[in-house]
Amino acid sequence: MRSPRQRAVLFSAGLAAALVGGGLMAIPSVASAAVAETRYEAEAAPATCDGLIESNHTGYTGTGFCNAANEVGAAAQFTVSAAAAGTATIAVRYANGATANRPTDVVVNGVTALSMPFEPTGGWTGWTTKTAAVQLNQGTNTIRLSPTSATGLPNVDRLDVEAGSSTQPPGWPTQCARSTPIVCHFDVAPGNYTVTAWMGDRDTAGNTSMSVEARRRVLPAVSTAAGTITQHTFTINVRQPEGQPTGQGGTGNPGLDITFAGSAPKLSGLTVQAATNPLVVYLAGDSTTCDQAVAPWTGWGQLLPAQVAGGAVVANYGDSGESSGSFLGNSALFPTMKPLIKRNDLVLIQFGHNDKSTSASAFRGNLTSMINQVRERGGVPVLVTPPVRRHFDGNRLTPTAQHVNGVGVDLPAEMRRLGTTLDVPVIDLTAKSKALVESLGPSESARLYLRLAEDGYKDDTHFSEYGAGKMADLVVEGVREHNLSLVSYLR
Ligand code: GCU
Ligand code: CA
Repeated sequence: MRSPRQRAVLFSAGLAAALVGGGLMAIPSVASAAVAETRYEAEAAPATCDGLIESNHTGYTGTGFCNAANEVGAAAQFTVSAAAAGTATIAVRYANGATANRPTDVVVNGVTALSMPFEPTGGWTGWTTKTAAVQLNQGTNTIRLSPTSATGLPNVDRLDVEAGSSTQPPGWPTQCARSTPIVCHFDVAPGNYTVTAWMGDRDTAGNTSMSVEARRRVLPAVSTAAGTITQHTFTINVRQPEGQPTGQGGTGNPGLDITFAGSAPKLSGLTVQAATNPLVVYLAGDSTTCDQAVAPWTGWGQLLPAQVAGGAVVANYGDSGESSGSFLGNSALFPTMKPLIKRNDLVLIQFGHNDKSTSASAFRGNLTSMINQVRERGGVPVLVTPPVRRHFDGNRLTPTAQHVNGVGVDLPAEMRRLGTTLDVPVIDLTAKSKALVESLGPSESARLYLRLAEDGYKDDTHFSEYGAGKMADLVVEGVREHNLSLVSYLR
């Protein structure tokens, strides 16, 4: 399986460096071969595990992980193939909930190539990735993780192998203006696109962030030293209008618009290609979810792309003012989104803010209709209870803050019950945001929402960019708890 990776190419010393999953290391040369990454799950043959395949600690990919016996030499072994002999980057995903390192030899084709310490990850559900460069033969190779201490291996989820490492940056793209920020436009039709950006410059240091379309954040600012270029791949959804589907706040430009900001934006290449069969995460929601074209308003769906790697894409159909009923009925909303849903796509459904006088049965009926129609398309519906409003009574949020509506319906409770009845996963953003807002308290929680002094507008329903980022984090937490298919694409 191809997956999301970020690479850095270091030109200064005539050496290449690969930045994969967060670690920077030198590899012998700049290879121009195309990058291909293959994923090998520890639980799937021909991989072997000197212990048990288990699934009791969430957050793994595939169907489980290898819990090898706690002994010297109790290994997890992968059989991988390479199209050509040469340097490959391997990335081991593991969790070590113990408090000490679990040192391990990485044995490639019978020879110890290096050792990995496998540091503690803060818990058995704290999965992280460790990378290294190894030499592979053409054809079949074995990569054996063989622990050297009596505590054995950490739990091992998978191995990603990327043969033929880094590509040369293609150079300044003609679609971009040499301005600060750097603004680029690609004249493409609505759809999903694989976008690869090479950030940094051979000669000067840079600090570059990336956003697309209507203020959708894909990458917070990355600093690069002179001579370091980092490569990043994302999948981007292009719509028209590019922000809210009904055009509120502005319709944007047809085509794909990309902005590189930061304190010193530097770009050494940018390519755009049609994406083949990405996992699409559709968002059906309101103003707290949507791609807000105009600052300071920010929907959590606008910051979610910063947590999603290439191969998966967020398509945000959230729209200000929509209720469960209006979203179903408005031709720009559910009726436009529905025919695009393909098998296994996720559809996150969040309503409540504007269901102020919706009866319990109408609310259930609207949500049930959406769930059934998503399933008709082969999609996977997920209910998301609405984030709380900042209305306190003492140190506790009021019922209105928690979406008990004007006719006394506890909307989040209805969603939770419906989730159980229809077997739909529920991300309880009401409960998660309530816990966050109440723990911050009446005064500290203000920064999650729009404030007069900072944002020029005061509002205890809509989020600041900071607050929207926090809501996106809580949604991601829920995605992990339910082990939704998006998990393997989270950055
Ligand atoms: C715990 C944990 C296992 C882990 C083991 C270990 O039992 O639940 O998943 O493999 O510790 O220390 O190796
Ligand atoms: Ca173990």
